Amino acid sequence: MQKLLIKGKTSLKGKILISGSKNATLPILAASILAKEVNLSNIPMVKDIFTMVELLKFMGASIKISKKKNSINIKNNFKKINTLAPYKLVKTMRAGVLALGPLLTKFKKAKVSLPGGCAIGTRPVDLHLFALKKLGARIKIKDGYILANTPKGLVGTTIIFPKISVGATENALLAAFNARGKTILKNCAIEPEIMDLINFLKKLGSRIDVKGRKIIIFKNEKIIKKIKHKIIFDRIELGTYMIAAALIGKKIKITKIDTNVIKNEINVLKKMGIDIKVSKNSIEISKGKKLKKINIKTMPYPGFPTDLQAQLMVLMTQADGTSKIVENIFENRFMHVPELKRMGANIVIRNKTAFVIGPSKLTGAEVMATDLRASVSLVLAGLVADKRTIINRIYHLDRGYEKLEVKLQKCKALIKRI
Ligand code: EPZ
Repeated sequence: MQKLLIKGKTSLKGKILISGSKNATLPILAASILAKEVNLSNIPMVKDIFTMVELLKFMGASIKISKKKNSINIKNNFKKINTLAPYKLVKTMRAGVLALGPLLTKFKKAKVSLPGGCAIGTRPVDLHLFALKKLGARIKIKDGYILANTPKGLVGTTIIFPKISVGATENALLAAFNARGKTILKNCAIEPEIMDLINFLKKLGSRIDVKGRKIIIFKNEKIIKKIKHKIIFDRIELGTYMIAAALIGKKIKITKIDTNVIKNEINVLKKMGIDIKVSKNSIEISKGKKLKKINIKTMPYPGFPTDLQAQLMVLMTQADGTSKIVENIFENRFMHVPELKRMGANIVIRNKTAFVIGPSKLTGAEVMATDLRASVSLVLAGLVADKRTIINRIYHLDRGYEKLEVKLQKCKALIKRI
């Protein structure tokens, strides 16, 4: 099992290149089932993407990946389509459940494994099934699989989500693509990754209108056979490196981004006293002199993202006073706390609120990664802690961060994979 070894307290200097978004790529790969040929660029070469590609190949797509060019070419002849998304692939990469919508749209049937839970929560898919049923799909759960079919095809309707869900919004968009008439989705998630999926579906010939949290999809009249699409940058990876720079950076420059997408994160760091220079497509960040405490609630976009909660908590450990972070999205997303406490952090959890008392001196230790974002918070802690930190089970990191140690080494961090 690979580990990461970090020698802390070395200032970060230099430039960081942000990869394409994992969470935009996954639904777009699922949507590629609807197309004849797709060329995707700016793809992050991370584990979850390879798993989704395995799933598409299992279904019958022919796929070429270029790791050098960060691109994927997908050709669907689909003579022998397999409308099955098996447990062995979906259990390790939950976004496999997004195959449901496109398989129903294209083949009127699907057998997709229930994704099961993960470290951060039970991760139900009831909202996905609620939306598909509203569009006319017949759904049965049997032996851990979702059996869905729609012999006469899906029919457009109005769907009001009782709760905001990124995945359920994406599955509904993919199912509504060819549903008869018009589909109106209300109380949708509107993350930038969903907007990227919508841009992809528009290239496929869809007419989709977005008005706040309402999305209207008109039945697709013409499928564009061959399309190209460049994946948007990864705003969570960006936020992660912004926090690294805020912890121990000197003029870290990050370019080729859209700072409009991270207004909330920029405001939070400014309120904490971080020195940030912001332009439309780049940002420059240095460690703050004195960090001020802050109170944060994780919320659906454009609120503060749950995927940056663990990372921000590390910054809070260095702030003066008691900061507060309420995790509103997932029921068990404080798995990084016990490990941070072993490094000297002073954190008290009460229900879904973490009280972070700072500043606390962090000391390197041997720690265990548990989920993708908890793992990267341990890397951030290791960068600012004195002595050495060893992080075990870094396969969690490799699911969503491309060349993490390489990008940090380029900024003078003393970090290596062993
Ligand atoms: C997406 O997960 C992201 N994953 C997550 O990123 C991200 O944390 C999450 O959205 C929230 O932003 C991908 O895009 C691949 P949800 P998703 O449906 O779609 C509950 C990462 O680190 N819910 O918005 O699964 C759910 O339990 C990952 O990159 C239901 O109750 O998130 C959660 O409490 C982690 N029923 C809340 O809604 C459902 O049918 C939000 O989940 C679906 C979700």
